[in-house]
Amino acid sequence: MSADHIVILTGAGVSAESGLPTFRGPDGLWEGHRVEDVATPEAFDRDPHLVHRFYNLRRRALDSVGPNAAHLAIARLQRERRVTLVTQNVDDLHERAGSTGVIHMHGELRKALCTRCGARMEWIDDMEVDTPCPACGKTGGMRPDIVWFGEMPYRMEEIESALMDADLFAAIGTSGNVYPAAGFVRTARFAGARTIEFNNAGTAVSGFFEDHRLGPATVEVKRWVDNLLDA
Ligand code: APR
Repeated sequence: MSADHIVILTGAGVSAESGLPTFRGPDGLWEGHRVEDVATPEAFDRDPHLVHRFYNLRRRALDSVGPNAAHLAIARLQRERRVTLVTQNVDDLHERAGSTGVIHMHGELRKALCTRCGARMEWIDDMEVDTPCPACGKTGGMRPDIVWFGEMPYRMEEIESALMDADLFAAIGTSGNVYPAAGFVRTARFAGARTIEFNNAGTAVSGFFEDHRLGPATVEVKRWVDNLLDA
């Protein structure tokens, strides 16, 4: 299936085989933590130490994982075709596989935001309540640059216009539980794109996809890209 503009949405499942936990599977992150305690602005106001610890542990985990065959296949596809890559993931495995221009709609673990001066910066170390902002020097304002529940995802206009222009939409490793990402397949279909879902199980939105590849992303995504490029 040729395509002039492919829009790809990835979720935690694309990083699962790299060793990063998903959210809603067995041993998922939400099994060990309540979203309300670690991933909302209210949680951060209520207990910033707990929230910083949650994200410090996840940021540190990035040091011991690497991109897998699915990340590498997507990066290869980007080099050969027009691809808009949107991810819900906050890890940097797409970039480490060679992808560029990745749209992190839920933010990034290795980015920080100062709520005092608005500065955004790369961040690889732990962050605490009293961590001073490198830009304004003030403490008490630093937070992970992550979009928490109840906050607006990033770069939605860019994403919407890519979906309206797509002729192929692929969702990889996402359960379709969280909006607005879960609604992207309908926007793409409405705009006339073909749709394909890659997952190792059924999802809440499988019924909206025309085509499905059931299995591990490292196998199915690599096979799909090889067929697209080597056909
Ligand atoms: N290959 C393919 N799919 C996989 C694999 C794999 N090896 N392992 C897991 N999956 C699938 C699961 O079947 C599931 O459908 O990946 C999906 C992971 O779903 P979630 O854990 O819900 O992750 P995601 O869809 O990315 O969550 C979306 O929810 O909590 C918020 O902000 C968080 O970005 C996250 C958003």
